[in-house]
Amino acid sequence: MENIKFNKVSCLIIIAFLISTCAGNKSAVTAHFPDAMLPHVKEQYKVQWEKGKILYELNCAKCHTIKEKKRVIIPDFREEQLKGYELRITNAKHEASLPDTLVTEEELGLIMTFLRYKKPNETAKK
Ligand code: HEC
Repeated sequence: MENIKFNKVSCLIIIAFLISTCAGNKSAVTAHFPDAMLPHVKEQYKVQWEKGKILYELNCAKCHTIKEKKRVIIPDFREEQLKGYELRITNAKHEASLPDTLVTEEELGLIMTFLRYKKPNETAKK
C-alpha cells in the first residue's frame, strides 16, 4: 500500500516537472546570428544580446510582447523598423514612454541587437 502511494506522488512530481519544462521551452527566445559572422564576434554579440533581452523585457515587453495560448511572442521587426535612434520619434507613444532619461542610446542599441538577432517566429506574421 505504502508503495502505491509513493508512486502516485512521484508520478505527479514528474508530470508537473515535464509540463513546466515544456511551457518554458515554448516561450524561450534564442539568439540567431548570421552564418558569416566570425565566432569571436558572435561571442561578443551574444553578451550584448543577453543584455538587450533584459532591457527589452523591462522597457518594451509591456506594449510589444503578445501572449497567445500560453505562447509568448516577441514581434519580428523589420530592419528598417529597428533604427534605434529613430524609434523615439516614430510614434507618439514612444516619445512619451521612452525618453532618454529612461532608456539611453546605449541601452536602445543593446535592445536593437536583441531584436535584430533573435530567432524569428515561425507563425507570427511580419
Ligand atoms: C507605451 C507602449 C510602448 C512601449 C513602452 C514601446 N512601444 Fe514600440 N510601439 C508602440 C506602438 C503603439 C507602436 C506602433 C504600432 C506597432 O507597430 O505595433 C510601436 C512601434 C514600434 C516599432 C515599429 C516602428 C516602425 O517604424 O514601424 C518598433 C521597432 C518598436 N515599437 C520598438 C520598441 C522598443 C524597442 C521598445 C522598448 C525600448 C518599445 N517599442 C516600447 C508602443 C510602445
